[in-house]
Amino acid sequence: MKDFVSMKTMTKDQLLGLLKRIEAIETGQVKPSYKKEEMFIANLFYEPSTRTKMSFEVAEKKLGLNVLDFHVESSSALKGETVYDTAKTFEAIGAKAIVIRHPKENAVQELAAQLDIPVINGGDGKGEHPTQSLLDLYTMYQEFGSFEGLKVTIVGDILHSRVARSNAIALSTLGADVRLSAKESYRDDTLDFPYLEIDEAVEDSDVIMLLRIQLERHSSKEALNKADYLNQYGLTIDRYNRLKEHAIVMHPAPVNRGVEIDDTLVEAEKSRIFKQMANGVYSRMAVIEMVLFQQQLKKGEIKHDFTY
Ligand code: CP
Repeated sequence: MKDFVSMKTMTKDQLLGLLKRIEAIETGQVKPSYKKEEMFIANLFYEPSTRTKMSFEVAEKKLGLNVLDFHVESSSALKGETVYDTAKTFEAIGAKAIVIRHPKENAVQELAAQLDIPVINGGDGKGEHPTQSLLDLYTMYQEFGSFEGLKVTIVGDILHSRVARSNAIALSTLGADVRLSAKESYRDDTLDFPYLEIDEAVEDSDVIMLLRIQLERHSSKEALNKADYLNQYGLTIDRYNRLKEHAIVMHPAPVNRGVEIDDTLVEAEKSRIFKQMANGVYSRMAVIEMVLFQQQLKKGEIKHDFTY
């Protein structure tokens, strides 16, 4: 696999292999490093980001890569340069891979098909967010050890969520029992999974994965009463108290405190929200290592095989 742009093409074995590699990196069993090779990697974020951009940068620096940072607002994108020409520029000046976030669905996949160097999807519009999904999978893997029959309910603004899409696809590939919970206007009929009411979901799930309401992607400016939304569709203290003993609460963040989750629950005992962020670094190290490895193998720079 040249790129890491979608969970649709990932097999169960590939996902499990990546999870094992993330574990080996986190526990220090392996220490991949490109320090001696003086390699460059570019981060092109055309949409705001805190966690994804920064954890990619930490991952890249931990791998000994030289990071080419790109700021749209001070770049030639403002003179009209296309994403393709920008990416080709980074390729020309020596970047060995590109991490990109773009507001347009499928823009990253289209770019990947045009470039020789690997492309990693840091989020394409409401399309996919595969590295977020991978760190979410790793967080569940740490907790439960396997996915077969694991009841995972994804709750919130499903319609506008690339995290929901990537996770629903990947979890389903891994054998989890995926369910969705959302108010009527936030449902996505293209995802073929059953919908549950939140009150049923909290009593029946191993994982409650909450999502932010992505007002910036909404076409209709439907008014949002935050307290009403929390009471009808979110994780209140009462619902938290009805979770199974072993259940965990996840959220890709940023969190709208007091909207999809009660403010006091963000750091509650069952919350893994900040654990997810920590896992983002190891997960992104494994993804970068995987695509660089495949590229070096293809170019004949290394000869041995490597199974993910
Ligand atoms: N979870 C996530 O993608 O966060 P950022 O938008 O801050 O990168």
